Amino acid sequence: MITIKDIDISGKKLLIRVDLNVPLDENQNIIDDTRIRAVLPTINYALDEHAKVIVASHMGRPEGKVVPELSLAPVAKRLTRLLQKDVQFASDCIGPEVDAMIKQMQRGDVLLLENLRFHLGEQENDNAFAKKLASLCEVYVNDAFAVAHRENASVVAITQFAPVCVAGFLLKKEFNYFTQALKEPARPLVAIIGGAKVSSKLAALENLFHLVDKFLIGGAMANTFLKSVDYDVGESFVENDLLWEARSLMKKATQKGTGFYIPVDAVVADRFDADAETKITPIQEIPPEWLIMDIGPATSLLYSEVLASAKTIIWNGPMGVFEMDAFSRGTSAMVNYVANSYALTIVGGGSTDVAIHRAGESYRITYISTGGGAFLDLMEGKTLPAVAALDRAG
Ligand code: 3PG
Repeated sequence: MITIKDIDISGKKLLIRVDLNVPLDENQNIIDDTRIRAVLPTINYALDEHAKVIVASHMGRPEGKVVPELSLAPVAKRLTRLLQKDVQFASDCIGPEVDAMIKQMQRGDVLLLENLRFHLGEQENDNAFAKKLASLCEVYVNDAFAVAHRENASVVAITQFAPVCVAGFLLKKEFNYFTQALKEPARPLVAIIGGAKVSSKLAALENLFHLVDKFLIGGAMANTFLKSVDYDVGESFVENDLLWEARSLMKKATQKGTGFYIPVDAVVADRFDADAETKITPIQEIPPEWLIMDIGPATSLLYSEVLASAKTIIWNGPMGVFEMDAFSRGTSAMVNYVANSYALTIVGGGSTDVAIHRAGESYRITYISTGGGAFLDLMEGKTLPAVAALDRAG
């Protein structure tokens, strides 16, 4: 992968595509700026090289309409603070105003463009839109790992029109981390897979089978596995149409000698509510009308023992409804085990990163991905369209 470091960018107009799709509260305050901080190395490098830096991103899914709540204006302010330099903000990403602003730019200036997805052409991977974006720059830099799984104009079609196309540091780091670490992993390799649905992780589970020594299953998706081997899970969420697939995965694990661990106890609630009545129960004794909301302490202990001997850990998806305090213990215990382990630890997607940041343990994880869907696609063994497009252009 050719990066920004491999070419001369001095004094050039750079269009750096990043993913600044950060969570905002109802007053447009940024709740978590991890994604902005993650692209600072690329932007700072470009500034050190005296380039003219044009930054582009999407925010949310406005589907081609101008939605003021999805403006990148709050991001421009945060970027100004983090870069400690003035960041100009354009009210569109193409058009005469943008052209005029770029004309005014001096070396070392930064301009943030408005949400790319205010134009339908972005999500439609439209060539005409991509051509207009490409015409803004002399060098196109893709540093948007988190959107690399989307066929969007600013990450795919644009590579046909931009004069020079390279990767930024984050895209390269994220991609290489995943592919290199899992190429010849230190063993045992343990995959912790949680989250709500087996359906959204089925392809990843299948793909990881050839690689992983042990799976630890948590979150609501564990319910489907439990029911597939005839445990009564009460009113818990189950994907009944996937019981056969769940059972065959477990059978495949037994045949291959892959460890496949499912919960042995659970924190259950009488309703899906933060204030529900709760209790801890063995998996054989889930009360008929109750729901599983988190893994229980025995499961947590069992999983900690598996993790203690791991040399590589990959984690996607929480163990329970961790957004509600009463059901967050399973996930926070896992955060501690993973953070304390001696293994190389890679975490991504499914809000797992949120749980780790919340626990203040990010600095003890080897690598936390900024990607959700992109990380999952790598786990599924898929090619990322944006990476493929860059490779073709390079
Ligand atoms: C994300 O938040 O996962 C990326 O920004 C991609 O967003 P999308 O799922 O709306 O394409």
